[in-house]
Amino acid sequence: MKVIIKENYDELSKEAAKMVEKQLRGKKNSVLGLATGATPLGTYKELVRLFKDEDLSFKDVSSFNLDEYIGLDENNENSYRYFMSENLFKLIDIKKENTYVPNGMANNPIEAGMEYDRTILENGGIDLQILGIGSNGHIAFNEPAKSLSLGTTLVRLAKATIQDNARFFDNIKDVPTEAITMGIGSIMRARKIILLASGKNKADIIGKLLNSPSITTNIPASLLLLHPNVTIICDKDAYSRVNK
Ligand code: GLP
Repeated sequence: MKVIIKENYDELSKEAAKMVEKQLRGKKNSVLGLATGATPLGTYKELVRLFKDEDLSFKDVSSFNLDEYIGLDENNENSYRYFMSENLFKLIDIKKENTYVPNGMANNPIEAGMEYDRTILENGGIDLQILGIGSNGHIAFNEPAKSLSLGTTLVRLAKATIQDNARFFDNIKDVPTEAITMGIGSIMRARKIILLASGKNKADIIGKLLNSPSITTNIPASLLLLHPNVTIICDKDAYSRVNK
């Protein structure tokens, strides 16, 4: 595991975008794993700039998003499909048919999850996965629990996550309580993983993760410590509780 500490959010975003750029320059038809949330927004902004100013093309790229809320369709401003269209897909030359987001409207989300994992495999697997981290240590929507699902499936959101994510909704009551998320196994199969953490509200969890590295399903992100190619990029605030 490699840890990169950056001065601030802007620098963190540029570093992450540089790693994505390197991946795409080396393999035009890369398969990217993409995350939502506030953290990757700066990375996406920088990728859009690289597309506009430096000829970085996404036309042969496929992407798989980590998760989606149950019950929100692509026209709902709080759906992750909408978020991705507005903040990245519409602004670059990726083909819509090559952008995959779990279907929060599926009649059978469990079946849809299994199908999602098959589609990832049919596309050759994820080359580079971008991840954020929840303040409770979740990755995607894999919440702290006694056991974690390997495959993409239906999950119930933790109270802490509903509270954290309420900032994007008009009312906390509007936050869906369930989601379909890529499982820990689906994430761990990615060939490379970048985990981004920014801001003081991530300092506790990054401290827990890095101060005494061990794995526990109570901190789903700790499973990443088993992965052979993970880079954690933190800004100074997120890194501030790691023992020096
Ligand atoms: C959500 C997403 C996660 C994301 C996390 C952190 O719950 N499902 O994939 O990593 O929030 O979000 P933020 O970057 O806004 O702190």
